[in-house]
Amino acid sequence: MTDLRAAGERAAALVAAHLAGVPDGPVWQPVPDGERAWLSGQELPADGRPLADLLADVRAHVLPHPMGNGHPRFFGWVNSPPNPAGVLVEPLAAALNPSCAGGDHAGPHLERAVVRWLAELTGFPHPPGGGLLTSGASMATIVCLAAARQRAARADGWDAREEGLAGRPPFVLYVTEEGHSCLHKAAQLLGLGARNVRTVPVDAAYRMDVAALRAMVAEDLAAGRRPFCVAGSAGTVNSGAVDPLDAIADVAAEHGLWFHVDGAYGALGVLGEDAAPHYAGLDRADSLALDPHKWLGVPVGCGCALLRDPGAARAAFSLVPSYLVDENAGDLGWLAEYGPEQTRPFRALKTWATLSSLGRSGVVRLVEHTTGLARTLAEMVERAPDFELLAPVVTSITAFRHTPARSGDLDGLNRAIPFAVQARGNAFLTGTRLGGRDALRACFLHPDTTERDLEILLDEIRVAAKGL
Ligand SMILES: Cc1ncc(COP(=O)(O)O)c(C=O)c1O
Repeated sequence: MTDLRAAGERAAALVAAHLAGVPDGPVWQPVPDGERAWLSGQELPADGRPLADLLADVRAHVLPHPMGNGHPRFFGWVNSPPNPAGVLVEPLAAALNPSCAGGDHAGPHLERAVVRWLAELTGFPHPPGGGLLTSGASMATIVCLAAARQRAARADGWDAREEGLAGRPPFVLYVTEEGHSCLHKAAQLLGLGARNVRTVPVDAAYRMDVAALRAMVAEDLAAGRRPFCVAGSAGTVNSGAVDPLDAIADVAAEHGLWFHVDGAYGALGVLGEDAAPHYAGLDRADSLALDPHKWLGVPVGCGCALLRDPGAARAAFSLVPSYLVDENAGDLGWLAEYGPEQTRPFRALKTWATLSSLGRSGVVRLVEHTTGLARTLAEMVERAPDFELLAPVVTSITAFRHTPARSGDLDGLNRAIPFAVQARGNAFLTGTRLGGRDALRACFLHPDTTERDLEILLDEIRVAAKGL
């Protein structure tokens, strides 16, 4: 114990020093060959080692090689800095080390509160038990689509869990070409078949073309297929676009489709004054996947599945073996009945700490600050003769490209820019394909990013491009 106390104090000092030093260091650097070999090639120690030695290793070999997402000029993918309150309580969750499968201890009770808070923040309906925390949005999507699949089968008078899908009309899922890959993975995993995921076209703002959705559903029905679910996006990963959720909800209601919304990255954008109108209809969805480990900065990993009808998830997953029967579980049963995980980590503590430390006003400030940065970058891009804006800004992502010359291989150039920028260590952005073109995208999640950082980003792109 004394050993743990001394080492714990040392660990706390390392945490504080690391976080304080992040803004002054490079955003990212490649891991040197020797270090890579040390990290991946080491042998399991034959005998145990003292805690102090472990910390020395972490200090020497782990902390110097971060992904970069703690830095205010990290704009890659959708990876936020860790919220300090979330960092603070992580060791305490480990010290308790519960399984939040269910039972009467702090973890499951806190999870109920945190899930309700997330529903309240996003304006999603919240019946008791209407959701659970997951490893991330990919898992939340699996939960929601499994619930949708079972509900559709039951509506048709059969049981997908009992019978499997063989011999039934194919269940069809609708997503846009901007829909996240996790929707496709979930569909494949659930046995729907990749060919039964329809790609709905998008408009010029990369939002679902709802007239096309309606036509595709009609065509599938006429062909004897079984449209069962449409997945809209509340913040696409490429450009942050929000689909016309209200109009999608109308189509879903007309055809009895489950309406799922992927708000993994962008659901909290609904708290932004300018963005809020784009989210009309979010509260009409059957399910919403969102990621506290994205915009909120809850330390990875924490996703959340919110469900209008919690019973739908329970119908898709509940399977309680005799050794887990809990007479005292109450009407809602155990959390493990609502998803595929049995032993479940204490994700609620870091999420509770993050939300409590920010408060509602802090979350709103974070959303306003970061969406404001995305809009400002878009204005800078539009003013600059050597950049081109590729999509309207709705949330906190700006999609654009570098156009130092109007002709030439702009796709090749923009494909090469992200790594060239990353390697310089002064900013970090990533690329994508948008509307058939190679694009740069900057995603803003860090509370300390400033407008000066945006100027640095554009200059870094210019310098890196010249060297290509
Ligand atoms: C829009 C969107 N949906 C889903 C996901 C998948 O989330 P996770 O990585 O937490 O599984 C992401 C991840 O970036 C995303 O941006």
